[in-house]
Amino acid sequence: MSLQVKDEVKADVLALEARYGRKPCLVVIIVGENPASQVYVRNKVKAAAYTGMESRLEELPAGISEEALLSQIAQLNADPLVDGILVQLPLPKHINEEKVIDAIAREKDVDGFHPGNVAGLWLGKDCIVPCTPAGIMRLIDSTGIELKGKNAVVVGRSNIVGKPVAKLLLDRHATVTIAHSRTADLGAVCRTADVLVVAVGKAGVVTGSMVKPGAVVIDVGMNRDAEGKLCGDVDFPSAQPVASWITPVPGGVGPMTIAMLMKNTIACFLSREAR
Ligand code: GUN
Repeated sequence: MSLQVKDEVKADVLALEARYGRKPCLVVIIVGENPASQVYVRNKVKAAAYTGMESRLEELPAGISEEALLSQIAQLNADPLVDGILVQLPLPKHINEEKVIDAIAREKDVDGFHPGNVAGLWLGKDCIVPCTPAGIMRLIDSTGIELKGKNAVVVGRSNIVGKPVAKLLLDRHATVTIAHSRTADLGAVCRTADVLVVAVGKAGVVTGSMVKPGAVVIDVGMNRDAEGKLCGDVDFPSAQPVASWITPVPGGVGPMTIAMLMKNTIACFLSREAR
């Protein structure tokens, strides 16, 4: 399914190059050597290459100063040939993530993390929507479920996933509950869900007995089990027989997130070129 999105972008890239005389360009920045982040950024650049857009990976040393990183971002903000800037999170502790996110020009913020884009999402204005929540909506839509009037439960309240996906579900007229680590009787709350989105970053927080029969289950988790194998937040073996549809880990939300990043790069290109 993420392949379909990337193919849509591939067609867009060709059409945009013909119309504007240049291809969209995405710059991905990684600071340090977090192994998971290295895999993610490589996959992002690989996907960009697949679509035919321009992209490059800037690998900066873990010890880079906040000032130097901010100045790198300022240069990219000023570069007319750069459409999208993504700084992979998390950053080393000596760098203030909020400052870095705020420094990326809003119109190049392919992550949708800039306060201007966050405000746009919550006020219902035109904005860049964060990639993971946008991908989750595309996955839910692929099931054909009508969200209007359905109960959606989001487990997790992060700025990157939980909060924005709750707003997107609300925009589609679902009745949305946000559950989290302090929720009393998480199982009872989850069992009300026609659509269950789990994004807490802890393996096995949701098991089959917490899933309403026939529910659509979206597992955003990306954890390692005791043997070092990738696994989600949902216990797949027990949940899969109960759900009508469930995303696997790996291979579910992750690839769709990257595909939506490609879409956001196109949107940023257009917001600048079509001014
Ligand atoms: N780290 C984990 N998820 C993300 C994401 O969506 N964007 C960025 N920049 N970093 C992340």
